[in-house]
Amino acid sequence: MAGLIEIKDLKKSYGAHKVLGGLNLTINEGETVVIIGPSGVGKSVLLKHIIGISKPDDGQVIVGGVNITDLDGGQLLRAIKRMGMLFQGGALFDSMTIEDNVGFYLTEHDDHASGTRLNRADLTLRVDEALTMVGLHGTQNKLPNELSGGMRKRAALARLIAYRPSILLYDEPTTGLDPITSMQISELIYKIQRELKATSVVVTHDLTSALYIADQLALLRDGVIAHFGPPEDFIKIHDPIIDSFKRNFTQDPLSLRRQRDE
Ligand SMILES: Nc1ncnc2c1ncn2[C@@H]1O[C@H](COP(=O)(O)OP(=O)(O)OP(=O)(O)O)[C@@H](O)[C@H]1O
Ligand SMILES: [Mg+2]
Repeated sequence: MAGLIEIKDLKKSYGAHKVLGGLNLTINEGETVVIIGPSGVGKSVLLKHIIGISKPDDGQVIVGGVNITDLDGGQLLRAIKRMGMLFQGGALFDSMTIEDNVGFYLTEHDDHASGTRLNRADLTLRVDEALTMVGLHGTQNKLPNELSGGMRKRAALARLIAYRPSILLYDEPTTGLDPITSMQISELIYKIQRELKATSVVVTHDLTSALYIADQLALLRDGVIAHFGPPEDFIKIHDPIIDSFKRNFTQDPLSLRRQRDE
């Protein structure tokens, strides 16, 4: 069976710098695939190709059977309208309230379940639901700079889920947060995944978070997926990068995951 997202022999260079060198990856419907790798290996570049905002030099990204690499403009927008992305930095609009930030995509785009623009009452309801889900109910009238960094990250997550995408792309959702806030974000990503029954691609260099949320882990190195597998197998792979990630652990790396499933 073909995956929901099929990446085939994807190549991308910037000038003489080869970033993706014939990368292959299959993401099945309903799965969370976490891509890990050190800084600068091309994780964000890969996500931007999956959502079609960067174009490869060669290769294909096939989403739901449609090769999006050749699409532009309205055709691309139609092909990716069920995708949502949390960008690295997850920027909110500083001058807009949290309510307006969270409702932003829904005022700009049709709701893809109903195919129409939501009316004001439904929009308010949808924003309230999303804020409740991330534990930020009551912050509707605040401005982003009145929230903490972790709360802003959660507000950015609420903006993503308010739109109810069926494919969610997250670029470094926990970077720059303390361990407890990171864990809360990981729990949220897992909960969103289950409640929306979505397919998720998460890029991170936080192996704790990766092991918590992933169905499959992928290590990006030298422009290709060097290792791929479920957490239990992935953690046993002998690889200098995986070993260096593992050195930061003070407890069994899979213990949080086991608690999750209890
Ligand atoms: N638009 C661009 N023009 C030129 N070079 C780029 C461009 N986008 C990315 N690169 C280069 O591609 C490489 C990979 O960048 P990318 O942002 O994907 O790294 P990353 O794996 O996401 O790193 P980090 O973990 O720090 O976010 C970097 O060397 C970067 O400088
Ligand atoms: Mg990045």
